[in-house]
Amino acid sequence: MQHFLKETDFTINQAAEVFTLAHALKKGRGKHTPPTLKGQTWAMIFSKSSTRTRVSFDVGIHELGGHPIFLNKSDIQLGRGESIYDTANVLSRFVHGLVVRTYEQTEIEQLAELGSVPVINALTDYLHPCQIFTDAFTMAERWADGANFLESLKGKKLAYFGDTANNIANSWILGAAMFGMELVLAGPEGYEPSEEIKATLAESGHAPTWSFTKDPEEAAKGADVLYTDTWVSMGQEEESSDRIRVMKPYSVTSDLMKLGKSDALFMHDLPAYKGMEAQEDVLYGPQSVIFDEAENRLHTQKAIMSVLSEANRR
Ligand code: CP
Ligand code: NVA
Repeated sequence: MQHFLKETDFTINQAAEVFTLAHALKKGRGKHTPPTLKGQTWAMIFSKSSTRTRVSFDVGIHELGGHPIFLNKSDIQLGRGESIYDTANVLSRFVHGLVVRTYEQTEIEQLAELGSVPVINALTDYLHPCQIFTDAFTMAERWADGANFLESLKGKKLAYFGDTANNIANSWILGAAMFGMELVLAGPEGYEPSEEIKATLAESGHAPTWSFTKDPEEAAKGADVLYTDTWVSMGQEEESSDRIRVMKPYSVTSDLMKLGKSDALFMHDLPAYKGMEAQEDVLYGPQSVIFDEAENRLHTQKAIMSVLSEANRR
């Protein structure tokens, strides 16, 4: 059984298939969508808030001919202490796939190991692979002219600012290596990538393509993409004031944007906190593609579910 718990669970060929299919699904939306989940029911178990992920998976499963069921973790017995073993076994008797947003990466790993249906990571504290595949597609649809999406990413410089130790930064460490992009992480001391993410990357067999700097200007120079995320991820609210203090120098401003290529993209996975990790004129400026990124969650995740279903049918 194949799962999508981290970027590198997909082969490079599957990633290429996802981009090609996402492009076709986007163009064909409302006209022709292959019903790859016809007759299937997928459960979405969420332990954290969500707008984009929740709605795009719900709509996407429906558009592929399937039926989504949204389960807030606190509403099911898992939230009252029922074991992951029992939950995975019971849900596997009912549904054809699970989309899970939670805290610990080990929770989705256990659901995948103990159940018998595919599991998709819809964000953990460690990784957010659906977001990174979507962002890479959003870049590639601009750079690739409708084909060779994966090739168009190779050698591009992605500069990431702010919380260089969170789920988005970790996921970019894996994604950039997989897609052959140069990733420069600019963040404060103490937020260097963890030994754990270095080990996950090493296990994948992809060569590292990232570097870390404390200097945001150095990172921005000549970048093809300037990317940021919230400084305070879900579950870190108590650390807010310390994080805001140390990350302030990494706010993406129009001056920082000017150091990138003249046609550089500004990206943010959202939700955004204006005036913090990015200034308002950048978030809504001419280089920003934040709402395309949000829309592309739908097309990319439909492609991910289709590729996963196909792999598990073989
Ligand atoms: N980017 C993202 O995952 O957004 P949500 O938290 O709204 O799902
Ligand atoms: N790093 C953020 C991403 C939100 C989509 C968080 O985990 O809250």
